[in-house]
Amino acid sequence: MPEFTPLFMDQLHDLFRWRRDVRHFRRDPVPEPVLDELLRVACLAPSVGLSEPWRFVRVDDPRRRDAVRQDFTRCNADALSDRTGADALRYARLKLAGLDDAPHHIAVLSHPEPAQGRGLGRGTMPQTTTWSTVMAIHTFWLAATAVGVGVGWVSIIDPERVRAILDVDPTLELVAYLCVGYPAEVASTPELERRGWERRAPERREWIRR
Ligand SMILES: Cc1cc2nc3c(=O)[nH]c(=O)nc-3n(C[C@H](O)[C@H](O)[C@H](O)COP(=O)(O)O)c2cc1C
Repeated sequence: MPEFTPLFMDQLHDLFRWRRDVRHFRRDPVPEPVLDELLRVACLAPSVGLSEPWRFVRVDDPRRRDAVRQDFTRCNADALSDRTGADALRYARLKLAGLDDAPHHIAVLSHPEPAQGRGLGRGTMPQTTTWSTVMAIHTFWLAATAVGVGVGWVSIIDPERVRAILDVDPTLELVAYLCVGYPAEVASTPELERRGWERRAPERREWIRR
């Protein structure tokens, strides 16, 4: 086990603090070896029963990307129409995806019943495969941040329609659609906070104890 120095720990905490959901991207691509390495690191995440249920899909086909973009536009319009008055106005001003500019799109799917892991740990909690995939996404997100690569998670899409657009195994569950590329701006606070939509909860010092 390597020794993690106090300096490293400080930098690690900075990494947690500075990881952002990115919606504004530069258009220049991330070099392939860098992306490959990030996806490899993502696969170091923990998983239920060591099932490694994540499936990363690089979406390169411009027609598929465009179809996903249209799906986002449709879902976002639906989300807006559910709101009224000042709330709708504030929602309409938000930018909730960087699908136009991000040079890379990565869909993350999850196998709900992977043979790997032999079912261990998911008998009573079958959702643990999805959660394992989320762990891999977070690992990817942090590793990307550490090398200056931005990641934006898009969930305002219809998972069934997007799965059909991607033409992947219909038994796979769509967990995330990620925009990836170099950020056009960096910030130490979430964009939703900077735009007055929501604020981080104050640092909690009291924990529930039983
Ligand atoms: C499961 C999940 C889904 C998300 N979906 C979206 C989304 O559809 N659009 C978006 O702009 N941000 C999305 N986000 C990003 C959050 O808005 C963001 O993480 C939050 O505002 C905190 O900002 P930060 O990640 O920069 O700290 C999502 C994040 C998570 C974890």
